Amino acid sequence: MSEYYKINTYGCQMNVHESEKIAGVLEELGFEECPEGEAPAVIVFNTCCVRDTAERRALGNIGVTKAEKKRNPSVIIAVVGCMPQQEGVAEAIKEKYPYVDIVLGTRNIDKLKDEIQKVRASYARKRKNDKRYRVFDRSMPEDYLAIDEASPMTRTSYPNAWINIIYGCNNFCTYCIVPYVRGRELSRDPSSVLDEVKRCLDEGYKEITLLGQNVNSYGNDIAGGEVNFAKLLHEIDKLDGKFRVRFMTSHPKDLTYEVMDEMAASSKICSNLHLPIQAGSDKVLSDMNRRYTRERYLGLIAALRERMPKIGITTDIMVGFPTETEDDFEQTLDMVKQVRFSNAFTFIYSPRRGTPAAAMPQIPYSVKQKRIERLINLQNSITKELSLGYVGSTYEVLCEDLAKEGMACGRTDDGRLVNFAGGAEDVGKFLNVKIDSSKSASLFGHKEEI
Ligand code: SAH
Ligand code: SF4
Ligand code: F3S
Repeated sequence: MSEYYKINTYGCQMNVHESEKIAGVLEELGFEECPEGEAPAVIVFNTCCVRDTAERRALGNIGVTKAEKKRNPSVIIAVVGCMPQQEGVAEAIKEKYPYVDIVLGTRNIDKLKDEIQKVRASYARKRKNDKRYRVFDRSMPEDYLAIDEASPMTRTSYPNAWINIIYGCNNFCTYCIVPYVRGRELSRDPSSVLDEVKRCLDEGYKEITLLGQNVNSYGNDIAGGEVNFAKLLHEIDKLDGKFRVRFMTSHPKDLTYEVMDEMAASSKICSNLHLPIQAGSDKVLSDMNRRYTRERYLGLIAALRERMPKIGITTDIMVGFPTETEDDFEQTLDMVKQVRFSNAFTFIYSPRRGTPAAAMPQIPYSVKQKRIERLINLQNSITKELSLGYVGSTYEVLCEDLAKEGMACGRTDDGRLVNFAGGAEDVGKFLNVKIDSSKSASLFGHKEEI
């Protein structure tokens, strides 16, 4: 009889991709993905702690598994990812959720296989629940890259393949927990990355998305100074076949003209960039330790648009950083008006334990709430206006997935989501789609015969 696994993923694309590695490990052990209506034998929570909301969502769902454990005492519950990597959290999980069997930090996924086998064996011996085998490990192995290269993987996002090029972060923005839970930057060997890209293309993937907290730091930790992100893009671009390349995330302090030139010269690298601005006032940017000014940011936007007039630029913006005054916030709105992002991910600042900003005097939640509403309204009106500009023209769309009721969806080169009448046979194909209408960030169209 089949035994099933279920993975609940929270947080960024890095975690989405790591869940593909977790799935690979579980499938090596003989588990299969849990179909709707079946009971899983293993439940994994791949957690995020970038904001309080992400943590609370995960904790709520971990709490729910208590009932599952009552029904089936040998179900294996594992909590992995960023949350338990924080000081004291693994211990708190042990206290509050005693039915959790396995807790592993961000660089320990390879241990999952062994640990699941041990827990399973312990249940098979029918030990009492409180005496069963449990593991809590958040060590950061030195040889992580070698361990990671050997990881199995079950990709789940065809026609896109996520490929991690750099792990960790060295930037220590004062609000952010990521450097504490993901460790220092570690770049993969460029030949390993290229081999993985080639393998994915051979397997039929049509889009490669390179991942890192700051892809522009790629290679900084590799001796010799020969390796950088622009050169990696260049090598990938030279590979044969029709495919698209995207990447995230770019830090404005490190985005180089060399990268922009590679993007502009290439037919494979999409005219699409996610460039988090976070705030529009120089004072707040400095307090955030972002190490760029609004002038520098605007300069980058101008340089990108000069090279790629149609580039789609998206961003992340945070409101309510402790030192943000009304005037600072107005400067964020002003930047949004000047840049005209295709889309923005907006967040209310959430104090993270142990980060410098969490120790500063905080802004009342009601003020943050009002600011984010104004920001969202402004961005929505810009997105809506920009969407109208697509109506009536035809775009090449890579069909990514089925949408509801006879519809399929995909993206334009500049990253816009397009819905059109289509079916399973379209997924993974490049299609010409004529845009008939738009609704906020989404475009609606129909396939054109080629
Ligand atoms: N490495 C990426 C993003 C990582 S986290 C970068 O540097 O851009 C994704 C987004 O979450 C960030 O861009 C930021 O806008 C937001 N974020 C990070 N810490 C946060 C916090 N403490 N509160 C609210 N939002 C936060
Ligand atoms: Fe966090 Fe800043 Fe690193 Fe991004 S660059 S992960 S926001 S510390
Ligand atoms: Fe969250 Fe960890 Fe990503 S904290 S945003 S899952 S790096």
